[in-house]
Amino acid sequence: MTTLVEVQDISKSFGAVNAVDGVSLEIDQGQFFSLLGPSGCGKTTLLRLIAGFERPSSGHLLIDNKPMDGVEPNLRPTNMVFQNYAIFPHLNVEQNVAYGLRKKSISKIEKEEMINQVLELVGLSELNLRSANALSGGQKQRVALARALILKPKVLLLDEPLSALDKKLREQMQLELRHLQRAVGITFILVTHDQEEALTMSDKVAVMFDGKVEQVASPRELYERPTSQRVASFIGAMNFINGTVMEAKNEIGINSDILGPLTISRSQVFGDLTENKIIIGIRPERISIVSDGSSVTGSISGRITDASYFGETTYYKVACGKGSETLTVSAQNSFGQMDYQIGEEVKLNVDIKSLVGFSD
Ligand SMILES: Nc1ncnc2c1ncn2[C@@H]1O[C@H](COP(=O)(O)OP(=O)(O)O)[C@@H](O)[C@H]1O
Ligand SMILES: [Mg+2]
Repeated sequence: MTTLVEVQDISKSFGAVNAVDGVSLEIDQGQFFSLLGPSGCGKTTLLRLIAGFERPSSGHLLIDNKPMDGVEPNLRPTNMVFQNYAIFPHLNVEQNVAYGLRKKSISKIEKEEMINQVLELVGLSELNLRSANALSGGQKQRVALARALILKPKVLLLDEPLSALDKKLREQMQLELRHLQRAVGITFILVTHDQEEALTMSDKVAVMFDGKVEQVASPRELYERPTSQRVASFIGAMNFINGTVMEAKNEIGINSDILGPLTISRSQVFGDLTENKIIIGIRPERISIVSDGSSVTGSISGRITDASYFGETTYYKVACGKGSETLTVSAQNSFGQMDYQIGEEVKLNVDIKSLVGFSD
């Protein structure tokens, strides 16, 4: 893998606000890379710094090994697709796409060929003469993509391109965008606050909070081995349980009210265990309910206190241990099966290998 975009310790402040605060990233050629984080964490600012619409307060950016200091946006090998499409309502599809080529000295025939090709790519060949006014949200987004792709940038920057679309269409466009990226082989950098979107589309995800990158990893690694509680709860749901470290060598021996004594490996623990306190994280689907009566070793007892049916899964709250602590457990539903009832006594099995430990 060759690195295409190198962000070297970049900061950007607006007055007293540190929008981007010491970010370093390496993004590979051909990668689908996402910047994920809550609103206001600095995603758009970072994308605009890469595009050249903002200048860093400090730090450097290299694209394709070339320093980008002082290089104007139109001279960078990047192109941006905006959240609000930014297409011209009074122009038709073809004219909108051709706008991207206005400054290029290319023959009319060649331009037409390029336009046809890119419209084919985004599935708009039939609508080439349709007025932009008369397009649906998804079609407008395709026009915006075509206009950006026609210039064959090395890096396509996308700022929440799907957030204006409704759920069904958004999911369809996520798939299309991923296919498109594979087909053209261009590096995509996507900004999104939607964790599901980042996980389903990306090769790599950088999770940001307060202007800083907290973790960069593949979707699976982020989900299974989040390195902090913030990342863990931003990427899906997780139970957090207070525990006490009994022994910390290669293996970590832990005791907790709910789970009792258990041992996990060092690689499952993030942060320095300076105190004997530890927070144990468990995903709801890594706990399974076994009916009361069957004696499974290591299982824990609990009582169902709440149930929410979601079709393929049901989420249960289960009160365990001596205190008032509850665990959230998700169970796959099979057809026709009865849900567990509120008040029912159950036993829970926890997948110990899936646990993560946090020092704070
Ligand atoms: N041009 C600007 N002037 C002043 N503050 C800005 C400007 N752009 C962004 N900010 C601030 O920087 C922070 C990060 O914003 P932004 O990068 O848009 O976050 P995100 O895209 O993650 O929602 C926010 O606090 C925002 O208000
Ligand atoms: Mg933004």
